[in-house]
Amino acid sequence: MKTMETKILTEKQIDQAAEIIKTGGLVAFPTETVYGLGADALNAEAVAKVYEAKGRPSDNPMIVHIGRASDIGQLTPRLSPDIVTLIENFWPGPLTLVVKRKKGVPDRTTGGLDTVGVRMPDSPIALELINRADCPIAAPSANLSGKPSPTRAEDVIEDLKGKVDAIIKGPDCRVGIESTVLDVSGEVPTILRPGIITPQHIEAAIGKKVEMDPALYINRPRDVNAQEGSSDKPPLDFDDEEFQPKSPGMKYRHYAPKADMTVIEGNRDKVKEEIERLKALNERLGNKVGVILFEERAFIEAAHDFFAKLRDLDRQEVDLILAGALSDTDGVGFAVMNRMLKSAGYNIVRV
Ligand code: TXA
Ligand code: MG
Repeated sequence: MKTMETKILTEKQIDQAAEIIKTGGLVAFPTETVYGLGADALNAEAVAKVYEAKGRPSDNPMIVHIGRASDIGQLTPRLSPDIVTLIENFWPGPLTLVVKRKKGVPDRTTGGLDTVGVRMPDSPIALELINRADCPIAAPSANLSGKPSPTRAEDVIEDLKGKVDAIIKGPDCRVGIESTVLDVSGEVPTILRPGIITPQHIEAAIGKKVEMDPALYINRPRDVNAQEGSSDKPPLDFDDEEFQPKSPGMKYRHYAPKADMTVIEGNRDKVKEEIERLKALNERLGNKVGVILFEERAFIEAAHDFFAKLRDLDRQEVDLILAGALSDTDGVGFAVMNRMLKSAGYNIVRV
């Protein structure tokens, strides 16, 4: 793809960014989760350019960002009481709702699905951009496809300078991992992608049980804390016929650093020992090793730092990343583990 001139804008130049969106261009902008790469969601040609800039498979649908909760009516024909409750409790914020789509939403935006993912981000810059552009904005994370999601302006510049019309240089993202994706288009609300809004938060708001998409347990026993072999269902893997994720994005390998990466899982003290042992062993053989080990149960901090650490270690050109697993079966730690395991290509050492 030929390179183009990319304007680096400050948050005082949002009007310029809005103009670019209105005229079918691409703008990367901060949200509270990660940076997004935005285009007018109702303009199929503009959305096609997002896939091209990211190098993203075109069956992977995009999240549509709105600037006022009431704008969801432009995108979906039907709002259930649960959807309204979720909007009242969690918007603006890191919760994407997958709802039935109206015909006017282009196939390009939804990857041809009859549903659309919608969220109202909790970031003044993002909201101002959407409201000034006066259209819903389709925005996947603003990284090259397959790379770690960008949580800082410099990460976006590294990936997309020369490929998009503008990048708004805003603050580092508060959350650090992408929004929770909740499918509310069917009978049972189902989490398709975990985030910092957890099943417990959602269940408390709507007063009913939330399901987890089986694809979230790919290569994993349902209960990571169970004894080896005691789990009721064997883990699925990518090649299983049973593995048919509702969220097309789940199929693709993701978030990969340049370095080789291994996750070490088990009792905390043993994990620390194993990391030290593997580090020493690899360094002795001339490899540069990076370690990612978060404080025990500091899940929010882990979410905030994880992608930034991967990118920093790549900049330091380490050969191998050793990451300590977080023990959490369905909360924020689980959401971080979802990213960590994908980054490592499910390369797991159990101790
Ligand atoms: O926090 C976020 O959600 C960020 C910021 C920029 O808002 N965006 C983001 O977008 O993470 P993206 O495109 O990288 O991830 C969207 C995920 C994908 O896994 C996709 O498959 C799923 O949401 N998704 C989107 N629309 C869907 C739909 N209609 N049905 C099922 N899954 C959907
Ligand atoms: Mg992404």
